[in-house]
Amino acid sequence: MISLFFSVFLAAIIVILFIFWLIFMVDSVTRGHDLPTGRNQRKEIFKIISEQKTAQTFYDLGCAHGALAVRIKGKFPALSVYAIDMGSVRIFFAKIRAFVLRKKVNFICADIFNVDLSQADIVYTYLWYDIMPALEKKLQKELKPGAIVVTNTSSFLNWKPIKEIAPPDKASQKVNIETLFVYRKE
Ligand SMILES: C[S@@+](CC[C@H](N)C(=O)[O-])C[C@H]1O[C@@H](n2cnc3c(N)ncnc32)[C@H](O)[C@@H]1O
Repeated sequence: MISLFFSVFLAAIIVILFIFWLIFMVDSVTRGHDLPTGRNQRKEIFKIISEQKTAQTFYDLGCAHGALAVRIKGKFPALSVYAIDMGSVRIFFAKIRAFVLRKKVNFICADIFNVDLSQADIVYTYLWYDIMPALEKKLQKELKPGAIVVTNTSSFLNWKPIKEIAPPDKASQKVNIETLFVYRKE
């Protein structure tokens, strides 16, 4: 009897995990670009954050499944981390990740253009090129002076970066992905 109960329980867990995996994959394929920031550039972002001694808030605009945001909270526990994505499925999985890893990240399911960024000290984006002109305008209007913006791969048209950090591997350099552009709001 106990072994039957155990088998049914195990089968139910496997079915639930499979459904979760299926939802994750369908969302990933149908809702577009959800690649997390690579390992090397993540370390560069850690360095940039470490240099901002007075920073209290970090915003990941378009956080996907929260991979970067959760790691940043783990590395900088005193930082208030806000991670925003318009995909509800992505935010759902991001919250599960943060819960399992016991990291307190403020996940928000919203369009980044509807989020007030006036309190942001550091903003990070790894977004598609077409969104950048409108985002540049929003950040120039809302951010406080001295705020740092780091964009990955896509950059702003008019705003000049104070630093560019190319990825170390030649393959990424060739296709021009994972270069970090660092901006400071005047
Ligand atoms: C490449 S992923 C970001 C990965 C994440 N920043 C990381 O490094 O782990 C880009 C995400 O931006 C989200 N996104 C794109 N446009 C958005 C918008 N206007 N508002 C909110 N999220 C957006 C997409 O849903 C996608 O999950």
